[in-house]
Amino acid sequence: MTVTIAMAGKGGTGKTSIAGLIIRYLVKHGGAPVLAVDADPAANLGLGLGLDIERTIGSVLAGFNENKITIPSGMSKDAYLNIKFSEAIVESRGVDLITMGRGEGAGCYCFPNNVLKDFIDKLTPNYQYMVMDNEAGLEHLSRGTTGNVDELIIVSNHSIKGVRTIATVMQLVQELDLNIKRKWVVINQAPAEIDPLVEAEMDRLGISPTVVVPTDELIMEYDLHQHSLLEMPDDSAAVRAIDRLMQNLRLHKLNEVKT
Ligand SMILES: Nc1ncnc2c1ncn2[C@@H]1O[C@H](COP(=O)(O)OP(=O)(O)O)[C@@H](O)[C@H]1O
Ligand SMILES: [Mg+2]
Repeated sequence: MTVTIAMAGKGGTGKTSIAGLIIRYLVKHGGAPVLAVDADPAANLGLGLGLDIERTIGSVLAGFNENKITIPSGMSKDAYLNIKFSEAIVESRGVDLITMGRGEGAGCYCFPNNVLKDFIDKLTPNYQYMVMDNEAGLEHLSRGTTGNVDELIIVSNHSIKGVRTIATVMQLVQELDLNIKRKWVVINQAPAEIDPLVEAEMDRLGISPTVVVPTDELIMEYDLHQHSLLEMPDDSAAVRAIDRLMQNLRLHKLNEVKT
């Protein structure tokens, strides 16, 4: 069974960076092949993984709905869409990436969305892990495009607003009745010591972070130079924190690392 790991949290808190480092961990510790799904319309997981994106699921759907495509004669719409969706997969060592891209525009997308759901359902079992980078509102999860989630990683920065968003996400998960097995909280871009005010707010909301990821200049540097997060060194502070997170998850079949 493929283990699904999904990211949630406010924009700018570090979801994409942490998704990248989680994928790095999986690939390094026997979790390949990994399917990375960029379900954030801002679509930048590809950039984080150093992969070029030419086509997104959104662009395929838009082309289909605006009748900008010519389906070869003798081919069903289904078969054609499946080919186009698979062209949106970028393959690289240990990880394949599929980018959902921006919204779907006007019109009824019921037919292509159903084909997409089947496509993802058939694709996923080929991978040990699926890591989904989500938009803040969990729309993809609530629409059920990507099914059940085993591990939800809720990311916040070191701020009162961020911490409150964790509580909002937890509530949303309940209200939407999402099928999520376990939830984990990551406080990202934290100073050396958590501020007592942030600590107090977490206590008040009953939130305890699984790990705290420090501000790591290497993450900024990798972003500036467009290096892949998969190439981050083992001794980076952020990498070490994500190693601890992943060990906490105790996912089966992965090799343990010493920290
Ligand atoms: N631990 C960290 N230390 C330093 N910079 C970080 C860290 N985590 C994220 N960043 C930087 O913060 C910005 C936002 O991160 P990103 O992962 O894109 O957030 P999100 O996906 O939640 O919008 C990026 O420029 C990223 O390089
Ligand atoms: Mg992002």
